[in-house]
Amino acid sequence: MKRYRIALYPGDGIGPEVLDASLPVLEAAAERAGGFAFEFVRFPWGADYYFEHGRTAPEDFLEVLRPFDAIYLGALGDPGRIPDHITLDPLMRMRQGFDQYACLRPCRLFRGVPSPLARPGDIDLVVVRENSEGEYSICGGRVRRDEPEEVAIQTAVHSRRGVERILRFGFELARTRRRQLTMITKSNALRYGMVLWDEVLEALRPEYADVEADRMHIDAAAMDFVRRPARFDVVVASNLFGDILSDLAGAIIGGLGLAPSANINPPRRCPSMFEPVHGSAPDIAGRGIANPVTQILSGATMLEWLGEAVAAGMIRRAVDEALASGARTPDLGGRLTTVQMAEAVRRCVKEGC
Ligand code: NAD
Ligand code: IPM
Ligand code: MN
Repeated sequence: MKRYRIALYPGDGIGPEVLDASLPVLEAAAERAGGFAFEFVRFPWGADYYFEHGRTAPEDFLEVLRPFDAIYLGALGDPGRIPDHITLDPLMRMRQGFDQYACLRPCRLFRGVPSPLARPGDIDLVVVRENSEGEYSICGGRVRRDEPEEVAIQTAVHSRRGVERILRFGFELARTRRRQLTMITKSNALRYGMVLWDEVLEALRPEYADVEADRMHIDAAAMDFVRRPARFDVVVASNLFGDILSDLAGAIIGGLGLAPSANINPPRRCPSMFEPVHGSAPDIAGRGIANPVTQILSGATMLEWLGEAVAAGMIRRAVDEALASGARTPDLGGRLTTVQMAEAVRRCVKEGC
């Protein structure tokens, strides 16, 4: 029997709530699919750890995580107590340090869940976010601190290699879907970095002639996510644009409680990390009402990445069925708690609905 060693990184706020609720669902899928088991190792890193140790995770935390088959994360951030750029630092370090350059954020409209849009159509898209460089590059500085003349410089770094590999990833993914790719930039204004994106797309186009590829600027794309989202299949974007579009994609399918995320190291030299798109949601933390579905779907993607597509399919079908049969947390207008919602999904996994 295969054993997968999974690092659990629950984090802050609703992170531990949704992560803990999702584990019985993963276990049920493992049991029913058969042939593998999990070994979970839990790390207590985050805001509470910070107050005890002066940092949110140990200095060598990447080395601690490196041997694991995958990292399963809840959410980080405790903005009332610690500045976000401190609590979120380990997230950036994992993505960049483990070269998890492809961030996949699929969104589809579930049966029975209303979209806030007037004419949603058949939403089924995946945002492929460049996850290792771009606007999130840790490159810049501040001079004349606290003086009126203070200057802060934050440089976006777009490398030809970085742009090419994420576009290739997007093209390959499009080949497994509807063969349609939209690249999002702002090359009408950002004449260096984003024009490089345009040029790399054009260089790759002949190689992927079987995929219909078009380009949009981020402002127009944001409008079309609302106006005609069904036109999108694979959406490739830089780090920051992908971040913003993936929250919007979550919103149009009913909310962040339904939007999963995977931070993938495609060559598998380092562990990949699976987490919801949403954050620690301090506004509802501690009340047991967070929607666990995005965490559960992130777990399904983790299983698929580990090679357990059958178990992943069971979980996705169970989420479909649970939502279609009316199971809802308050963010979707229902009354179920986090644990009850996860239990509704687990039951469907177990009973094979
Ligand atoms: P958020 O995603 O935590 O919350 C935005 C809104 O969505 C809130 O109203 C929240 O209640 C709701 N929401 C989010 N997840 C939900 C769920 N599962 N069920 C029901 N409702 C849900 O974004 P924010 O408020 O801007 O950020 C809060 C903290 O989380 C900050 O510290 C931020 O930096 C951090 N953050 C972390 C991650 C991450 O760990 N990957 C991602 C985004 C934000
Ligand atoms: C996300 C989050 C992070 C990001 C923040 C918390 C640093 O918003 O995972 O989408 O911007 O990547
Ligand atoms: Mn985000």
